[in-house]
Amino acid sequence: MAKEKFIINGLGGEKTLKGEVSVRGSKNAVLPVMASVFLFKDTLTIKNAPLIEDVARMSELLEDMGVSVGKKGERVLEFSSKKASDPELDSVISKRLRASVILTGPVLARFGKVSFPHPGGCVIGARPIDLFLEGFKKMGANVSEREGKYVVTATGGKLVGAEIFFKVQSVTATETFIMAGVLAKGKTVLKNVAIEPEVTGLADYLVSCGAKIKGIGTSTMEITGGGLLSAKKPYTTIPDRLEAGCFLILGALAAKDLLIKNCDPSHLEIVIELLRSSGVEIETGKNFIKVKGDGPSEGFKAVSIKTHEYPGFPTDIQAPMTVFLTQVGGESLVFETIFEGRLNFTQDLVKMGANITMFDPHRVMIKGPTPLKGKELEGPDIRAGLAFVIAGIIAKGESVINNVYYIDRGYEKIEERLQAIGVDIRRVPVEEIVVAPGAAPETA
Ligand code: EPZ
Repeated sequence: MAKEKFIINGLGGEKTLKGEVSVRGSKNAVLPVMASVFLFKDTLTIKNAPLIEDVARMSELLEDMGVSVGKKGERVLEFSSKKASDPELDSVISKRLRASVILTGPVLARFGKVSFPHPGGCVIGARPIDLFLEGFKKMGANVSEREGKYVVTATGGKLVGAEIFFKVQSVTATETFIMAGVLAKGKTVLKNVAIEPEVTGLADYLVSCGAKIKGIGTSTMEITGGGLLSAKKPYTTIPDRLEAGCFLILGALAAKDLLIKNCDPSHLEIVIELLRSSGVEIETGKNFIKVKGDGPSEGFKAVSIKTHEYPGFPTDIQAPMTVFLTQVGGESLVFETIFEGRLNFTQDLVKMGANITMFDPHRVMIKGPTPLKGKELEGPDIRAGLAFVIAGIIAKGESVINNVYYIDRGYEKIEERLQAIGVDIRRVPVEEIVVAPGAAPETA
């Protein structure tokens, strides 16, 4: 793997970015749809797939299990599980891709067995998998641990429908059990489910291919199991709301006129609402968002945020929003309720000149506005990595962002799209390194 870094020459508070930026397909939407290949008897075609590292890793994992993976166009991928028979998730790849856990449901439902490693620790928090293991047991499976892997076996070779109440709303657990329910015997009722657009998008697509799912978009879903589905029409990946949210925040901070294209503003209502209440002028259409003007003459106002399951404030936009809040007047509170490690990056913002007090791992207070100075930073995860890029863009002087691999996992060639709107950013190789098995960073 080539190690690379970004070098950014900051704007030092000037608002000179302008033009148009296009949003790619959503990482967190495309990964579960890729995993759903095990529910299909024929070829699954995915359009608007983002060209990102996580999609490459998931493709490798599927290929390793016998799925054929093909490329039909620049962002068009084809998958077929016709020849797949291996219910074992490769440990090295799975540990690099937390989202690999979504495969457990469809693989177990299809083959009656799945084995997989614990997805491992992660910089954003503990990332437990208890909901998965408890849910499989409720569906009649036996869970054991062997040679560092979980081995889950459905009694009689087939999962049976069950009623599962999730004690916390989980995006990937909801997706996993929707897919498990599609091939299980009888009815599966899922309560307290996540209703993120990535979850409802997966369920809608499965329904369009013959799955029987009720209650999509509500807190209780009912799935009636049946046979393998037929991929009657291609799946078109929904726009990445997290990427659109980052561009919106960047526009508010550093542009007088920025058009964000190919996005769905209805997935970003809370972010738009909060930025507007801070004084950002935003226009929205069916598939675009425009950031306009200089902002109020007295500057943007402080707003407080609390991350929450959809449609609340996304934990994945907390880091860039925190950067925004360093530039507004007054005191803003950030309450990160989902993951306990997701405010650690604020220590680096302090080194850049931000005034941030951490009360506990879940809460910080930001006093602003404070100008930021360029620094060398190490992106700890995908979302904080891009937040550092935004901080580097608005700072005075040069910033170096290491660990670009993290950013590439979730954002397709981000520097090219940033250059096109006026950002002075370069991708520079650091050195060639050889990644030892299992040593690569885990992803979302
Ligand atoms: C998904 O992760 C996303 N990943 C994350 O995106 C996102 O931050 C997160 O949802 C929250 O929106 C994908 O969709 C691939 P959760 P997921 O299970 O499903 C607890 C990114 O940067 N929990 O919804 O793993 C958990 O600890 C990322 O793209 C259990 O307690 O998150 C957390 O507090 C990172 N037991 C809460 O649920 C379990 O078995 C919600 O997390 C599972 C989760």
